[in-house]
Amino acid sequence: MLDGLLVPGRLALYLGLMLAFGVPLFVWRVVGGNTAPHIVHRALRVASAATAVGLLASVTVLWAMAEAMSGSSDPGAVWSVVHTLLTQTTVGITWDLRVVFLLVSLGLGLAAALKERTRAVALSSLGAVALATLAWAGHGAMSDGAAGWLHLGVDIAHLLAAGAWLGALATLTLIAKTASRHAGREAMALLSSAATGFAAMGTLIVAVLVVSGMLNYILIIGPTLSGLTGSLYGRLLLLKLGLFATMLVLAAANRFRLAPALEQALRDDDTAGAVSALKRSLYFETALVTSILGLVAWLGTLNPEG
Ligand code: HEM
Repeated sequence: MLDGLLVPGRLALYLGLMLAFGVPLFVWRVVGGNTAPHIVHRALRVASAATAVGLLASVTVLWAMAEAMSGSSDPGAVWSVVHTLLTQTTVGITWDLRVVFLLVSLGLGLAAALKERTRAVALSSLGAVALATLAWAGHGAMSDGAAGWLHLGVDIAHLLAAGAWLGALATLTLIAKTASRHAGREAMALLSSAATGFAAMGTLIVAVLVVSGMLNYILIIGPTLSGLTGSLYGRLLLLKLGLFATMLVLAAANRFRLAPALEQALRDDDTAGAVSALKRSLYFETALVTSILGLVAWLGTLNPEG
């Protein structure tokens, strides 16, 4: 009986695929390969572990969906629905594509001969395609014709921006933990430059999330605010927007207070307080993104008009 695992499975799917894409993206675009090889190596190992979680969650969610559709937990009946889904529906075909990309990504994650930078580029590219396939597994695939393609494009942009944000937070947390454990100047300098580098990337991420999120809403509910109050779907979406607003406050604090404070602390050679403050803020922001993803995992299974 896996149908009760549909929402937790979807959450694991979001977390796994977003980290599999976002962590190597941050390593590639912000951290760079030569600065701190041991941190880059650990970050890419996290990305590979996330890829494995994404694979497992893909199988669990597919089975849970088939079980809910067949209305039975008899393995033969569920398998027949899985077979039909995988061979005759867009959800199934994009699932096949996702699994192939995740398997290739797992293989490349283990390929010792590859340079770390090449591996980061390859893992984030494969992760981007795997994450994008989720657009076909929810309300992103509910529209037809030209609106259907627009909806899928908007949903893919939304997924990639959310993944880039989560991946950046996870990598920054990893660097901050290493920096506070070893308290070396090199790790502190890397943390400071990565936190400042994230500030620029963060502005683009927030802009894409807001525009694509609003279009997503209009394409699902329509150009009306009443959809936010009249249903469980709307109330959960409203809660999500409240969490997002809190994240924006934290992101602004990181950018305008904590990152400059760390730069100053590096100059003064007294970084302990600044690193702890940044770490606390990163933990809180990561908990907020995870809660948002939990809500979205639930939203995707609800009727927006119900
Ligand atoms: C102004 C801000 C935002 C708005 C208006 C917005 C709106 C929406 C809407 C309407 C959906 C469709 C839900 C469904 O029925 O499946 C959605 C999906 C989603 N949102 Fe947001 N969102 C915003 C910010 C965020 C943030 C900050 C994150 C995470 C960091 C996020 C992550 C997601 C994810 C992962 C999905 C599911 C996409 C899919 O599975 O295809 N959103 N959003």
